[in-house]
Amino acid sequence: MKKHKIVTNISAYASQKELPNTERVLFESALKASAYAYAPYSGFRVGAAVLLEDGTIVTGNNQENAAYPSGLCAERVALFSASSNYPGMAVKAIAITAQGRNNLSKKPLTPCGACRQVMVEYEMLSKGSVKIIMDGNNGEVLVTDSVKSLLPLAFDANIMKGKKE
Ligand code: THU
Repeated sequence: MKKHKIVTNISAYASQKELPNTERVLFESALKASAYAYAPYSGFRVGAAVLLEDGTIVTGNNQENAAYPSGLCAERVALFSASSNYPGMAVKAIAITAQGRNNLSKKPLTPCGACRQVMVEYEMLSKGSVKIIMDGNNGEVLVTDSVKSLLPLAFDANIMKGKKE
């Protein structure tokens, strides 16, 4: 029996003011998008901004529903919108942030498991890695260079095809 160790590399910035320009611009787009979230049930408004290879930024926010499971997270709204409007265009990065009913969320928004799985698909389609910028508002910002860091041992198409990677 062998034991494997999985290492995750995450950069932590003290606040978004320290971020490189592209990442900061993406954070600002995500923050703007969070203001338009439809989140009457949770009051937790999430914004996501996807950067495409040609520099286009596509935003999304969470869309809730009275039948709770019918709603969708901001990350998937943004990624599905990007893929449906710009099919085949590679995704370079996604920034995510959130605000509560009365306050901006200081904690970095780390995406839910279902959104990580969807990110794996677009990272594979993009033939490169997708940077994930998880923003707290005036708080810590976590950045990973690939979805793989957030979802090791992910299920993807290669597993179905029986391929290694
Ligand atoms: N939510 C997101 O939009 N993204 C996440 O990664 C986590 C959760 C939304 C779903 C729901 O509308 C609200 O936040 C509370 O869970």
